[in-house]
Amino acid sequence: MEQKKLDLVLGLQWGDEGKGKVVDVLTPSYKMVARFQGGPNAGHSLVFDGDSFVLHTVPSGIFREGTVNVIGNGVVIDPVILMEEIDAIEKRGVDVSKKLVISKRAHLILPTHRSLDAASESAMGKGKIGSTLKGIGPAYADKTGRYGLRVGDILQEDFAALYQAHKERHLQLLDQYPPFESPFNFDEYEQKWFQAVEQLKRFPFIDSEVYVNEAIEAGVPILAEGAQGSLLDIDFGTYPFVTSSNTMSAGVCTGLGIAPSRVGKVYGIFKAYCTRVGSGPFPTELFDEDGEKLRAIGHEYGATTGRPRRTGWLDMVALKYAVMMNGVTDLIMMKSDVLDSFDTIKVAVAYEENGKKTDRFPYDGGKNVTPVYKEFPGWKSSLCELRKYEDFPQAFKDYIAYIEAETKCRISIVSVGPDRDATVIR
Ligand code: GDP
Ligand code: IMO
Ligand code: MG
Repeated sequence: MEQKKLDLVLGLQWGDEGKGKVVDVLTPSYKMVARFQGGPNAGHSLVFDGDSFVLHTVPSGIFREGTVNVIGNGVVIDPVILMEEIDAIEKRGVDVSKKLVISKRAHLILPTHRSLDAASESAMGKGKIGSTLKGIGPAYADKTGRYGLRVGDILQEDFAALYQAHKERHLQLLDQYPPFESPFNFDEYEQKWFQAVEQLKRFPFIDSEVYVNEAIEAGVPILAEGAQGSLLDIDFGTYPFVTSSNTMSAGVCTGLGIAPSRVGKVYGIFKAYCTRVGSGPFPTELFDEDGEKLRAIGHEYGATTGRPRRTGWLDMVALKYAVMMNGVTDLIMMKSDVLDSFDTIKVAVAYEENGKKTDRFPYDGGKNVTPVYKEFPGWKSSLCELRKYEDFPQAFKDYIAYIEAETKCRISIVSVGPDRDATVIR
């Protein structure tokens, strides 16, 4: 018998592809949106009604009527950041308590996880990951090390004692590090943390794996929302310059508790160029005027940390790898309008290393490769106001056709501006 399925949205590059916008645009066709990995390292921007909003832990379906939003077991939660986010959403008139459920199995980020993140980054000096300092790595390390505290533990009578035991173990670990500057006031944060934990109790803590599976079986249309990007995947990204979860499509199975046979459409999102925040290989990175121009026009500054994003040309080697690894069924191209004024647009079609050419994404993420570029003439006109594929300039249609031919995948949505409405669905 044919299995009922959920659909999935994820990023194909190093994050910030525009997942928030796409989930918000697609949500009217779904009744449930579920996050399956990552934590407040994510910054998902939504722009509508002349206003913008950045979500960190709450799924991007929260602003649409009639949608339940699920924070799945694969997510790590900082109660302070989550409660601040919920308060800000409620100020916009959304009754979040009617629309948000949280997995009991999601892990908690403790204040000491944030300290450990800062200590570790400081100790690594120039070799640092460039983490968001939200405690993501240490929280996931505790999860796989079988030390973690979970959302369900909040309801236990001895929660404060459990917390204390974890804190003490973390303080012993912190003693091993050279002195470092804490980016936050620990005592203040710890106090806010306990207040936020109390406030969180007004939301249902549930067995989300059962909830989601029953909903799939009942025919509820569900969209799973990825965070970060494929090249930040802990197994297949540019290790060690990655995040600490499986960001690729496989992560939805463990992060929500669904079987592989339950995955339907896989929407793979990519920018018409590339960006990266933090350290690590980035073969097509630009250090010239074009790079500056991409950053300025694309407003390429981190939605979570405000850091300037590194910018570069589209990388077909990396994109094809991500399409393959995720089993992408539909491509979505974002920020095409950012390229409007460029005379020439480049795409890396292969890498060269030690005189050898390859179109395979390398083990080390292309640390020492030189990209081989194919050039495209720019379309030199504004895409922002266009809403039909037929109205696109021919040079832009050629760019789209080239990417489709290379990836063997159809681009079914093209985004031409940050607003919800600036979207062309083919
Ligand atoms: P996410 O983390 O994948 O959700 O992406 P971010 O929100 O971190 O970064 C994407 C940025 O690009 C946000 O500021 C969006 O408002 C903006 N954006 C999304 N789509 C488009 C687009 O098609 N054109 C332009 N110019 N901006 C876009
Ligand atoms: P969204 O969901 C871009 C990067 C950090 C760093 C590395 C590890 O908005 O696309 P971490 O704090 O996870 O330990 O940092 O991963 N990173 C992101 N880059 N977008 C994100 O999320 C990111 N989340 C983490 O910059 O290089
Ligand atoms: Mg982001």
